Amino acid sequence: MKDKPILRYNANERTNHWLVAILFIMAALSGLALFHPALFWLSHLFGGGPWTRILHPFIGVLMFVFFLFLVLRFWRANFFIANDRLWLRRIDRVMRNEEEGVPPIGKYNPGQKLLFWTLLLCMLVLLLSGVVIWRAWFSQYFGIGSIRLATLLHALAAFVLVLSIIIHIYAGVWIKGSVSAMLHGWVSRAWAKKHHELWYREVTREDPPDSQIGKKG
Ligand code: HEM
Repeated sequence: MKDKPILRYNANERTNHWLVAILFIMAALSGLALFHPALFWLSHLFGGGPWTRILHPFIGVLMFVFFLFLVLRFWRANFFIANDRLWLRRIDRVMRNEEEGVPPIGKYNPGQKLLFWTLLLCMLVLLLSGVVIWRAWFSQYFGIGSIRLATLLHALAAFVLVLSIIIHIYAGVWIKGSVSAMLHGWVSRAWAKKHHELWYREVTREDPPDSQIGKKG
């Protein structure tokens, strides 16, 4: 059927994604409560100061573990392909919603791919630095210099992660149909063809006449 929708995310992928999103919000709020006295009031959401301090690292580890499952599902689709470089050079046309001269891309666009690897890097830094500053269990194995450096890196990675997620949400809302894909799983054929043509061809095995060079993405 020509207008049959295409499955972009199955139920496991969607559940996994939204679990990470919920854990991210909890980790961010509890982290901010511990970051500055002006934000300490946020600790009420977690049962007060001591509970926030106990819970924050466990929430963080849980977020990391579920994020790792997401990475295992999606890393292959986030490798850069030949067309990505040209797509990035034509980003002004993408922003103006023009299709002329914009090469077809795979399941994710180069912006999404850059974001994906940035998220992974931030998560790794957060986990490693978080272990070093986890007073209750691990800090005694590290010197004060390492603890200070880890504290700095932890705050820096959290800052970059929060900014990246703001961009991620903005981009998801900007491309109409994306949030619905992550909520319900399906996208229309027109959506797939317009935004991710190489992926569209791959899942439908259609080869439009104006095909341009590009490997699987
Ligand atoms: C809190 C609100 C969030 C919203 C509204 C949101 C929205 C979305 C949407 C709409 C997509 C589908 C994009 C597409 O199919 O083209 C997506 C994909 C994805 N999201 Fe989120 N997201 C949120 C939080 C997060 C968080 C906290 C993380 C991880 C730290 C995350 C990681 C991902 C990843 C890895 C993908 C697949 C894209 C790729 O592999 O490049 N999201 N998200």
